[in-house]
Amino acid sequence: MKGIFVGTKPSYKVIIGSRALTQVGSLIEKTAPDVQKVLIVSDTNVAPLFLETVKKSIGIKKIEVCEYIFEAGERSKNIDSIAGMWGVMAENRFTRTDAVVALGGGVVCDMGGFAAATFLRGIKVFQVPTSLLAMVDASVGGKTGIDLKEGKNLAGAFWQPSMVIEDTDCLKTLPDDLFTEGLGEVIKHAFIMDRDLYDLLSQIAEEGRADKIREDDLLMEKIVSMNVSDKVSVITEDTLDNGLRQTLNYGHTVGHVIERNSNFTLAHGVCVAKGMGIIIDACEAAGTLDPEEAKKMRDLITAYGLPVTDDITPEEAVEGALNDKKKRGDTISVILVNKIGTSKIKKMSEEEFLDFLKKGKKA
Ligand code: GLY
Repeated sequence: MKGIFVGTKPSYKVIIGSRALTQVGSLIEKTAPDVQKVLIVSDTNVAPLFLETVKKSIGIKKIEVCEYIFEAGERSKNIDSIAGMWGVMAENRFTRTDAVVALGGGVVCDMGGFAAATFLRGIKVFQVPTSLLAMVDASVGGKTGIDLKEGKNLAGAFWQPSMVIEDTDCLKTLPDDLFTEGLGEVIKHAFIMDRDLYDLLSQIAEEGRADKIREDDLLMEKIVSMNVSDKVSVITEDTLDNGLRQTLNYGHTVGHVIERNSNFTLAHGVCVAKGMGIIIDACEAAGTLDPEEAKKMRDLITAYGLPVTDDITPEEAVEGALNDKKKRGDTISVILVNKIGTSKIKKMSEEEFLDFLKKGKKA
């Protein structure tokens, strides 16, 4: 198994490899020998597949296991679910030395992390992501939280995990649509900061293997590791999202609005892909992104089965973005890619952002 060091405060490791789920107990014991109880947080899709393996691996280490399984989906990402987790931990007399194990996709990682960040003013969390999206993004970097009816991820905390344990075998059982949506975040990393990843993904697409990458274990391990390293380099430099980390929001400002307008029926990674497509159009229309580069970007997104367009109007996108936490003061921080592998943050007023999107829509 591979270990990637995350130099945040506190620091931790991301462990990546086949059969990592069977090691969860021993990794907890090694990393946090004081843990006596864990709450495994998971959802109704993931628990039937992996809960028993993880419980067994923790049980062998004589650590008491409690569980909180919620209905899968973004609609569960609310304060009621968190209160349910707090309740199980309180009833079972968890103390500050105990831990949460978040076993699942992005929603599980965000909520398990938030429950850990807030119970007894903070206990340990071990992130055990089972989806591609959670492996390459949500589980790493300590962003935790829930949605409010006014917007996605509006309440939360930065809370770094004690360890992230990624079993790439989980990707084999992931439904096709969930795997594909994770590729939205993978492609995002390629665009904003990793030309080598772009070259690898586009070469695979040119060879007609884009829909078969899951069949190659070593390739998947490589892709996951490249993405985790990308994310780690960003969050190590800017843990609290005051600068560089905002580049990870490429495609998200508009993507989040599309996601919310669909009442969360569209997957996050799909909406990010649509959001990236809309920003690519706008950058091309503004003359800052070369048409050939723009075509390469659209081609890569579509080669991996993701969309680059949406019916959202510029007015709807701007209105929705005003409720987003990416808004700071009177400006919206818009992430731009004008050359594959690099990105920049441009602060725009409401009017500037509207104009920018309108020009992209017309082109
Ligand atoms: N998902 C974006 C971030 O972690 O900052």
